[in-house]
Amino acid sequence: MADPLTLDEVEAAARKSLPSKIYDFYASGADGQRAVARNRQAFSRLFIRPRVLQDVSDVDTSVEVFGVRSALPVGIAPSAMQRLAGGDGEIDAAKAAAGMGLNLTLSSQSTSSLEDVMQIKIDTEKGVPGPPFWMQIYLHDDIQKSVPLIRRAEAAGYQALVLTVDTPVLGNRLAERREAVILPKGLSLPNLEKTAPGAKPQPSINRQFMNVRSAAEAKALRAAFGSKMHSASLTWERTINELRKVTSMKIILKGIMTAEDAALSVQYGADAIIVSNHGGRQLDETCSTIEALPEVSGAVKGALPVIMDGGVRTGADVFKCLALGADFVLVGRPALWGLAYDGCRGVETVMHILERELNRTMALAGVRSVKEISRGMLGVANRNG
Ligand code: FNR
Repeated sequence: MADPLTLDEVEAAARKSLPSKIYDFYASGADGQRAVARNRQAFSRLFIRPRVLQDVSDVDTSVEVFGVRSALPVGIAPSAMQRLAGGDGEIDAAKAAAGMGLNLTLSSQSTSSLEDVMQIKIDTEKGVPGPPFWMQIYLHDDIQKSVPLIRRAEAAGYQALVLTVDTPVLGNRLAERREAVILPKGLSLPNLEKTAPGAKPQPSINRQFMNVRSAAEAKALRAAFGSKMHSASLTWERTINELRKVTSMKIILKGIMTAEDAALSVQYGADAIIVSNHGGRQLDETCSTIEALPEVSGAVKGALPVIMDGGVRTGADVFKCLALGADFVLVGRPALWGLAYDGCRGVETVMHILERELNRTMALAGVRSVKEISRGMLGVANRNG
């Protein structure tokens, strides 16, 4: 079979090869899945205003993130349980990212340990370090209980903690509620099992929840723990201040959707923010992330890097994010589709497609470098357009 030419084709190939339950787990959002759909649709209302005769014989798609050059303004978003896609999951994704000089954020709910993923990066780069990897976490109600995982990430060499703040309670994911995803024998969530290298396994609520072997077990756990799976009690006053006391890693807040919270992120000293609605898996009745981006980047006024994810499926989508004020963009599901399609090579395929599309879009729009992409290069189609 010929290699896919678009991310939609990669998704179609992945859909064919994945059990439908796993495909649904990855693809679906919360409630009526309106945010998932909106994340995609909102891109099509934006069009690019191309400039011509700009000498685009040499187009450079690279950017700097926290002072380190990345070949693309695109990284891989954290997504849970990548080994369900088949192959080596997070290990394959890490090989692809490190091999291509790209940034990756590892989910705390990964099916590979954070140490193993970092070792793959070190081995793949062969002494020439590329863009750092980041570690995603959810904070426990009692922040001290999250410290062992934070220490592990710091010791392993992750540059930043990506703190997901849009999950005070889990979104209402109907597909998962109807049929719990059960980890097959041999798979586990090693970041949540042991709290320190060499420490005895300590099953967390998350692990117990994610590791259920039957629908009845899932129901019982849900009844027992309910919304305590994620911390609902965190506040602006506590979170960043307390994290600063326990780590020197950069702190990136993931899940900022409003100008108000963007301003608070600056006020409380976040190092960066991610405009994200969790790929539509949390609050369903929210706007798309590309719609939220202008107000967020407007409120930040360049005080910190603004990253965006949600529905990015083409190089032109990446271009639109950059034009509306994003410094960097993440893709979530496309990496999962790449893994299901062809492991490490599948993720490379996804990122190469985005690279080629962004390169071509920049040339056709008349820009040579990412910093030349500006707000004035976009127009908004009217509702009928
Ligand atoms: C996610 N996402 C996510 N986010 C997070 O902070 N921690 C996590 O463990 C997960 N897990 C996860 C699993 C699956 C299957 C998906 C699809 C998503 C959200 C993810 O980081 C990102 O915000 C979205 O996936 C971005 O949207 P797209 O690119 O998938 O449209």
